[in-house]
Amino acid sequence: MEVIASAPGKVILFGEHSVVYGEPAIAGAVDKRAFIKIKNSPNNKTILKSYDLNFEAEINSKSKKYYLKKGKPGIIRYILEVLYQHHDHSPIEIILSSNIPIGSGLGSSAAVTVATLAALYRYHKVKFNRKSLAFDAHKIEETVQGIASPLDTLVCTHGGIIYLSRSKKFQSLRIKFKTPFVIGYSSKHGNTGKMVKDVKFLKENNPKIVNHIISAMGNLTNSGKYAILHNNVSKIGELMNINHGLLDSLGVSTPELSRMVYLARKKGAVGAKITGAGGGGSIIALCPKNIDSVAAEISKYEKILKTKFTNKGIYYQVKY
Ligand code: MEV
Repeated sequence: MEVIASAPGKVILFGEHSVVYGEPAIAGAVDKRAFIKIKNSPNNKTILKSYDLNFEAEINSKSKKYYLKKGKPGIIRYILEVLYQHHDHSPIEIILSSNIPIGSGLGSSAAVTVATLAALYRYHKVKFNRKSLAFDAHKIEETVQGIASPLDTLVCTHGGIIYLSRSKKFQSLRIKFKTPFVIGYSSKHGNTGKMVKDVKFLKENNPKIVNHIISAMGNLTNSGKYAILHNNVSKIGELMNINHGLLDSLGVSTPELSRMVYLARKKGAVGAKITGAGGGGSIIALCPKNIDSVAAEISKYEKILKTKFTNKGIYYQVKY
């Protein structure tokens, strides 16, 4: 028996960091995916390998230990935690492939976690639905990272554009958002846990100022939801630019990220901002026109992806 599951990466359009303090956020699934194949092991060992990420490891899921034969993948911690919590520890072979850049704030860990869980559940014929899958995947992210909002795993499970409200209810904004965008991702990876802690520290030292910035981000996200529902692309761009300024004021931008944002705007993006935790990682630039010139300019300095939102969330196939 062989199961293949895949889940999309994501970008946060509005509300990163403020979502940690209960404010709303909006994120969307992108057309880049992580794929997990699970099959019976050819020997009595559990093997995890990835040809595109160039690593191979032997895993002991019961003791949460692994022996690396090749490469050094941080993403292994998420797969190990899924196996530790949800596998019966029988020998299996797991093959990971991904066209989501790893560690760039584009939801690679959530996509890998969601795809691994779904593949494992199908392998063991465990019943699940999208709601339970997103919930279980979020628990895995929390265990591995210490802190995580449910946003990434919700988006990677359901696909589409998701609005997470102040009361943690989510709403799928299943509209036809066709505007393409450029993602610029810095070779410097951000550390989500550290960035979240840095913002917390700034907030504790300057509550009268930072509390207002956080609630302004929440109001901005609600205006963003309205603009998305009315397909008002120039308004979405304007709000993205304000959101970037507020994120910068929280100290999560870097010279590389800000350079990409300003280059994108100069070359015709209607809006550009950091996406995700910052401190490294990625920016998103919305480009109803001029996508090629925006992409060409950013790619002089950093890596880029041209992409768009997708409604396709978790997807799996079983072969007997
Ligand atoms: C990271 O992708 C987004 C943050 O808001 C953290 C989180 O929501 O878990 C910075």
